[in-house]
Amino acid sequence: PGIAFGLDAPYSVAYHDRIASTNERARELAGEGAADVAVVADEQTGSRGRLDREWVAPSGGVWLSVLTRPDVPTVRAPLFTLAAAVATTDAARQAGVDARIKWPNDVLIGSDGGGSADPDPDPTGRGGRKLAGILTEMEGEADRVGWLVVGVGVNANIDPETLPAGATSLSAERGGPIDRRRFAATLLKRYAELTASPGALDEVLPAWRERASTLGRRVRVDTAEGVVEGTAVDVTEPGALVVDTGEGRERVHAGDCEHLR
Ligand code: BTN
Repeated sequence: PGIAFGLDAPYSVAYHDRIASTNERARELAGEGAADVAVVADEQTGSRGRLDREWVAPSGGVWLSVLTRPDVPTVRAPLFTLAAAVATTDAARQAGVDARIKWPNDVLIGSDGGGSADPDPDPTGRGGRKLAGILTEMEGEADRVGWLVVGVGVNANIDPETLPAGATSLSAERGGPIDRRRFAATLLKRYAELTASPGALDEVLPAWRERASTLGRRVRVDTAEGVVEGTAVDVTEPGALVVDTGEGRERVHAGDCEHLR
């Protein structure tokens, strides 16, 4: 398929028809001292998701990992993951699919059935299905980011029957295949813009909030310290979810978030 042939990107592109994992390859390249590379594949045979889960990545997706060496403090690293979610959402919208972000970094289609962020229940009943996920890996020293690999997995031109339950694809939502080269070019360009400088990174949270489906909803977040349930009211630097539990506000830094309604 050669989805990356002629791909216009602000990174050098390493394309593979089939590879175990683009994140794995990007990490290897990091070890060799490379920077500003996007590893792109049509199919992955051993890809990984968050929390050590398997990630299903058949031919037809946009599976890519961006390796950079940003000169920023480690505490700002989560902004890169949020930037990738914003970039993916914008690329999906350009491809004609109404995408939104579920905290911290899942890209879902449209509404998932209510909440003040989206008062109209989705008439198709398809809302809330997952289009894309992001896995960030990094290595740093003395509180500075050394290298950072942001891996983005987008179910692009894939029959959702072959995907895990709760997942959908851009082609299924649009009713026809998308131009993956254009999609990847838009995603990479947007990600590069949003992460180009400390000043650009300051714009990531506002952009994320505008595209969020989580804010205003009842959520249940499974964290290492226990379950936090309440209304998601904000996302603050460096990407923490603020949940109003009824007894006060809690900031959640990591966990699995479920939209209750
Ligand atoms: C998630 O669990 O939601 C994150 C999924 C991340 C998958 C992408 S596909 C490209 C890159 N390579 C990998 O092995 N994983 C990420």
